[in-house]
Amino acid sequence: MSATGADGDATGLGVSDGAVGGHSGASGALMEVEHLRVLFPIKSGLVVDRTIGHVHAVDDVSFTLREGETLGIVGESGCGKTTLIRTLVRLLDPTAGVIRFRGEEITGRSRRQLQPVRRQMQMVFQDPQASLNPRKRVGQILATPLKLRGLAGDRIEAESRALLERVGLHAEHLGRFPHEFSGGQRQRIGVARALAVEPRLILLDEPVSALDVSIQAQVINLLEDLQEELHLSYVFVAHDLSVVRHESDRIAVMYLGKLMEVSPSEELYDKPIHPYTSFLLMAIPIPDPAENRARTRQVVTGEVPSPIDPPAGCRFHTRCPRASDLCREVEPQLTEYARGHLAACHHPQNVSPAEIAAARRSEATPLSAGAETPRLPVSSA
Ligand SMILES: Nc1ncnc2c1ncn2[C@@H]1O[C@H](COP(=O)(O)OP(=O)(O)OP(=O)(O)O)[C@@H](O)[C@H]1O
Ligand code: SF4
Ligand SMILES: [Mg+2]
Repeated sequence: MSATGADGDATGLGVSDGAVGGHSGASGALMEVEHLRVLFPIKSGLVVDRTIGHVHAVDDVSFTLREGETLGIVGESGCGKTTLIRTLVRLLDPTAGVIRFRGEEITGRSRRQLQPVRRQMQMVFQDPQASLNPRKRVGQILATPLKLRGLAGDRIEAESRALLERVGLHAEHLGRFPHEFSGGQRQRIGVARALAVEPRLILLDEPVSALDVSIQAQVINLLEDLQEELHLSYVFVAHDLSVVRHESDRIAVMYLGKLMEVSPSEELYDKPIHPYTSFLLMAIPIPDPAENRARTRQVVTGEVPSPIDPPAGCRFHTRCPRASDLCREVEPQLTEYARGHLAACHHPQNVSPAEIAAARRSEATPLSAGAETPRLPVSSA
């Protein structure tokens, strides 16, 4: 992957309980993340540069991504999705925590030491216009990563043509500049550039949200075909749950820098355990405007609190209809229910008392959590 945002790259990611995943090879884990934290300092003072606080962009996140898996990451704007995946590919340095890729720790590596690993992880960005250099022709854009892969000059053009065809473009597009393409075509170029270094993992940061709805499906179909053909893993970031439903094997729901729920995809839609996930599900637009309006009225309201001073206890308590005194005081642990379904909530929904009794604290539980185990649901679901 390119070390700079402008050169782009793509990867895939999944989230699981540490007990489910494991080291590369033996248990099929491609990436393991433990207690990852990314804090951005807030500076003040015109003369003396003082740190007066921190933005808690990613706060104690743990998961395992399996080989060949697509992990969806969803959450409202500002919850830390982009910061998380940029840190995974080491475009950003973590404040704390460990990232292992195929069993090797990459957290402490220098830029030079990272190079061989970075080629295996690429990012595709939300805005294809901004992520492609406007002064370079497509042929030049693709030549850079192909050279990085060690291809000789005479093979670069042939490989560039093959890459364009693989993403549904044509060889004659090599001589064009990015502005001479549609948005969907530009995103295809972004995908081709990511593929040029033969990555294992592509991290997709809202890859279709800037595209027309009709084009979104085409790009998603392309990504699915490529995954099957090239055995890629994806981490697929999106604002809303409708986009990642069919693409993801598992989905991780983020709120204010933390994982709230991680679940096999279909189960998350059928039986969300965390109230925040229900909130996101209710926010998915539906075609009937009257039904949409009626449903929107039930949606949890209120602003997302500041990530500079996140609420104590459960970070969602200021907006949660089920919040209790316990929620305001004690941070809930990420707890594993049946079928690898994890949620961090004192009053979980859609689980029976027997399932709560059988649940266990996840390996991925927040370091800062107290010793509280989930309580019985406030109302049975
Ligand atoms: N370089 C930075 N310096 C300071 N704060 C930052 C920086 N980058 C991001 N942040 C803050 O970190 C938090 C998480 O931002 P991030 O871009 O990761 O969110 P996001 O979930 O990707 O949002 P969106 O859905 O809008 O893309 C936000 O509060 C943001 O303002
Ligand atoms: S822990 Fe409490 S406040 Fe947080 S989501 Fe669960 S019920 Fe709501
Ligand atoms: Mg983002």
